Amino acid sequence: MAAVLAMGISVPRHVLPLHELARARNVDPAKYRLGLGCKEMAVVAPGEDTVTLAAEATLSLLQNAPEYEPSKIGLLVVGTESGVDRAKPVAIWVHNLLGLSASCEVFDVKHACFGGTAALRMASLWADANPGRLALVVASDIARYPLNSPGEPTQGAGAVALLLGSCGRGEEVFTLSKRVGMYAAQVDDFWQPAYLKEAVVRGHYSISCYIESLKRSLEDYGEEPGNDPDFLVFHCPFPKMVKKAHAAMLEFLGKSYDVSEDFRRRVEPTLWVNERVGNAYTASVFLSLCGLIEALGGSLIGRTVGVFSYGSGSCAEYAVYTFGNGVKTSLDIKRRLDSREVINATQYERMRAECEALEQNGSYKGNVTNLGRFTFMGIQEHRRVYCGNNLRPE
Ligand code: CAA
Repeated sequence: MAAVLAMGISVPRHVLPLHELARARNVDPAKYRLGLGCKEMAVVAPGEDTVTLAAEATLSLLQNAPEYEPSKIGLLVVGTESGVDRAKPVAIWVHNLLGLSASCEVFDVKHACFGGTAALRMASLWADANPGRLALVVASDIARYPLNSPGEPTQGAGAVALLLGSCGRGEEVFTLSKRVGMYAAQVDDFWQPAYLKEAVVRGHYSISCYIESLKRSLEDYGEEPGNDPDFLVFHCPFPKMVKKAHAAMLEFLGKSYDVSEDFRRRVEPTLWVNERVGNAYTASVFLSLCGLIEALGGSLIGRTVGVFSYGSGSCAEYAVYTFGNGVKTSLDIKRRLDSREVINATQYERMRAECEALEQNGSYKGNVTNLGRFTFMGIQEHRRVYCGNNLRPE
């Protein structure tokens, strides 16, 4: 049976503390910290985009797990809603930047924040059908709302890479349950028209769509045989949303637990990365999962986590994953978060404008200096230019 064998993450190298944004927007900082549950917001700088974040997460994964041979990767799927081209997938640049085998199916999956989960499920079926080969899934996104909008403090960015293959050695990070609760419904809660740079969102309505999808997914999943999962991960657009979802879940399932105690025990250990990164759309649910793994490590072996993934528009799934011995490998998340450069609100707005300028044709000047391992250099004759260690020549 296929399982996730290794993971890697990446986050932008700059961070804006949300009390700085609150000051700039003349908002009580308690609204962001307590009302939304957010502490910090990851900010992309010129040179970073959805592709470089995905490539960096993949390189981290391959370095964390040298026992898996990259030439065996026969499927590469990127789940994203902040792709950089309407025709060309993010995945093909990642494939090139990592120098992966040409004998590989390479494509993106899109359904708002659900894309990474959809890719994971698809890759798991592919890995079952292709024993001996490996599948790579990367969830990578930059969450962006208009300046001064209610969504602005929930922005963030990041990527998580997951390597799947047949397991049998007991070294898997986790296995996915075959049983899945699903729910799909056409709703206009959050979307990004092709002619706009930022998402359009009906914020309070989107919260009710999320909760409705959670209930319907649980209903479709049916009664949990045996015990409750040991932990719960929810898609995290902002941590307070997860608190609302957890309370709604207990009520819907008719559980008479102490809500705060259950939250503290089964949910809180999953949220510390999201609090410090912000929303990363498709990657958010996996950042929570990585946070749990990093917080509890080997003590998770044999334990279970119920995972709820929601994508606006909408599609959702609830499934249960079981942890294996692979949870012992550290993803080095705390050091990555602590080593980011702290910026203020003026620098954030300047970086945002510089990133926008780099997205214009003719922006390539060969002068973007980014200390990351992969850099987006700009656009020349409508072609995106990247540099990185493992580039294959055309
Ligand atoms: N001190 C403490 N708390 C305060 C406060 C203060 N001074 N001022 C306000 N608050 C609290 C409010 O009481 C509220 O708490 P509750 O939700 O528990 O009632 C909370 O802070 C937020 O306040 P508002 O509702 O007034 O905030 P808002 O209207 O300005 O924006 C938002 C909130 C609608 C979530 C907005 O951030 C938004 O549009 N976000 C983007 C959309 C989103 O993330 N939707 C989630 C579901 S959709 C999804 O999950 C997909 C996805 O990734 C986008």
